[in-house]
Amino acid sequence: MDELQSLSHDALGRIEAAATPEALEEVRIEILGRKGKLAEISKGMAKLSPAERAETGKQLNLFKQKLESELEAKKAQFDEAALTARLNSEWLDLTLPSPGVLPGSIHPITQIQTEIEQLFVSLGFTVLDGPEVETEYNNFDALNIPQDHPARDMQDTFWLSDGHLLRTHTSPVQIRGMKTLGPPLRMIAPGRVFRNEEVDASHEHTFYQLEGMMIDRNVSVANLIYFMKTLLSAVFGREVTVRLRPGYFPFVEPGFELDIQCLICGGEGCPVCKQSGWVELLPCGLVHPNVLKMAGIDPEVWGGFAFGLGLTRLVMMRYGIDDIRWLQSGDLRFAKQF
Ligand code: FA5
Repeated sequence: MDELQSLSHDALGRIEAAATPEALEEVRIEILGRKGKLAEISKGMAKLSPAERAETGKQLNLFKQKLESELEAKKAQFDEAALTARLNSEWLDLTLPSPGVLPGSIHPITQIQTEIEQLFVSLGFTVLDGPEVETEYNNFDALNIPQDHPARDMQDTFWLSDGHLLRTHTSPVQIRGMKTLGPPLRMIAPGRVFRNEEVDASHEHTFYQLEGMMIDRNVSVANLIYFMKTLLSAVFGREVTVRLRPGYFPFVEPGFELDIQCLICGGEGCPVCKQSGWVELLPCGLVHPNVLKMAGIDPEVWGGFAFGLGLTRLVMMRYGIDDIRWLQSGDLRFAKQF
C-alpha cells in the first residue's frame, strides 16, 4: 500500500508536468505498461494474505482508473492545443467575397468598331455586311481594276480553287451597297480582310478594315475631309497629327492617303511606322466615274467619296499596341487589359 501511495503521488505529479504528448506517453508506459511499475506492484500481491490482497487489489484498481482518467484528460488538453494551432495556421476568412468566374471582355477591335458604327449611324449612315469569300469581279473588276492592271499586284490575294477569293479589302461591299441601296446613299462596312503577305509589327495576313461611302449630288473633297476629321476626333478624343497626300487607287479619282503621326513612338521612328514616323491609316478619295457606271449609277448626276480605314492599325494607335500580332494572338495577358 505504501508503494502504491508513493507511486500514485509521483505519477500524478509527472502527468501534470508532462510538456508534450510524447512525454505523457512515456509516463503511461512506465507506469501502466506491461512491464511498468503497476505490474510490478501487482506481482508483489501474491505474498499478501487474502484480506490484504482484496484491499490492495481494490486500491490498485482505483489508482489505475484515476491514472487513466488523468492521462486521458491531459491527452485531451494536448489534442485541443494541437487543433487550435492547426486552425490558426489554416485560418480562412469566410466573409471574403469569392474570386468568382473571370468575366469575358469585348475585344478592342470590336469595341472601336462599335464606337465608329454608332458615330456613323448618328450621321445617317447604314451599316452593311459583306461576305469574306468574294467574287473576283466584286473585289477587282467592278472597282475599275481590269485583269491585266498592275494594281492587282498591290494586294496579294488568297485564291480559292473555284475562282473565288478571300476579299483583300472591304471595298467590294461598296459594289454590293450601291446595287442594293442605290443613290443617294451613306454606308459603312466593317469587316475582316485577308492578304497573302509577310507578317511584321504592322502587317497581318488577316486584319480589319472599315469601308465608308457616301453618294449624293455635289459631294466634294471638303465633305470627305469633314467626315475623316469627325471620325478621327471621335476615336481619339483629342488632336492627332495627320497628313494628307496623293494616293493611287483605281477606284477613286482623286485619291489620297491619310497618314497619322505614329502614336507608338510619337513620330520618332519605330518598327510599327518602319522608322518613318507616319502610319498609313485612312486611304480615301472621290469615287471614280467608272465605278459608279459599273454599279448602274449615272456619274453625270451623282458623285461620292469612299474611304478604307485600316481598323486594326487604328486600334494599335489608340491603345499604343506596338505589334499587330498581339491582336489575334489569343494571349490572355493581352486580352485581359481591355
Ligand atoms: C485598300 O485596301 C483600299 N481598298 C482602301 C480604299 C478604300 C481606298 C476606298 C480608297 C477608297 P490599302 O491596301 O492601302 O487600301 O489598305 C487600307 C488600309 O488597311 C491601310 O492604310 C492600312 O491601314 C491597312 N492595312 C493594309 N495592309 C495591312 C496589313 N497587312 N495589316 C494590317 N493593316 C493593313
